[in-house]
Amino acid sequence: MRKLIAGNWKMNGSLAGNEALVKAMLAGLGNAVPAADMALCAPAPYLAQLQALLQGSAIAWGAQDVSGHEQGAYTGEVSVAMLKDFACRYVIVGHSERRQYHGETDVLVAAKAQRALAGGVTPIVCVGETLAEREAGQTEAVVKRQLAAVIHAVAHCTSEIVVAYEPVWAIGTGKTASPEQAQQVHAVLRAQLSAATQHPERVHILYGGSMNAANAASLLAQPDIDGGLIGGASLKAADFLQIVASAS
Ligand code: 13P
Repeated sequence: MRKLIAGNWKMNGSLAGNEALVKAMLAGLGNAVPAADMALCAPAPYLAQLQALLQGSAIAWGAQDVSGHEQGAYTGEVSVAMLKDFACRYVIVGHSERRQYHGETDVLVAAKAQRALAGGVTPIVCVGETLAEREAGQTEAVVKRQLAAVIHAVAHCTSEIVVAYEPVWAIGTGKTASPEQAQQVHAVLRAQLSAATQHPERVHILYGGSMNAANAASLLAQPDIDGGLIGGASLKAADFLQIVASAS
C-alpha cells in the first residue's frame, strides 16, 4: 500500500503563514508524483483556506477534531457535515492532547470516529500510552483498549479508518520510539484489526511522535508502519517533504 504522511499543525498558523508554508510545499513537489499520499490537518478556521490552496493538488486536507453529535445546540463544536462542506478528506480523532486536556474518553473518541465515517470523512484514530503506562508494562493493554472502543463503534467499517500510534511520551519531546518499539506496537494493532475486519491490510497504521526528516526512513521501513502523523516537522516545508520522500 502507498504510505500516508499526514501533518498535524495543532494550534499553529495564520492566514499569511499558512499560505507561505503550503506554497513552499507545493513548489517543492513541483509536478512530481509524491512518494507517499499526503495530507495536512489544520485548525478549523483555516479549512477554507486549505481547500482553496490545495484543491487539484497532490495534498489532501483535513481537520483536527469533529463533534460526536450530528448538529444542534453544541456551542463551539464543528460537525462532520461542516468538514464535508470544505471537502475535508480526513479528521484526527482522539489525539492524546484532546484526551489529556479536554477529557475525551474512549467512548467519546469512538462516537467521533463513527460520526466521521457516517459523514464521509476518514477518521485518523490516535492511540498511545503515557510514559507511566509504558513503564508499568501496560502499553499493549492501553492501545488495545483505545482501539477496541472504536472498532466496537464502527464495526463493519473498521477497514475504512486510519490508525495513528502516538506514544504520549514521544509527542513534541524529541524522544522518538525506536523503529523496533514502534513496530512492536503496530504489529499488535494490526493483529487486533485482523480479528475485526477481513481487510486489515487496507488500514494505514501511522506512527506519530517526534518523527522528523532524520528518523523517518528507519521508522517507515518497518513492515507495519504505513506512514506518519507529523506535528512539529509539518510546520516546515523542507522537513515535511523530506519525510514524504523517505517513504519511497
Ligand atoms: P510531534 O511530531 O511534534 O512530536 O507531534 C506528533 C503529533 O502529536 C502528531 O499528531
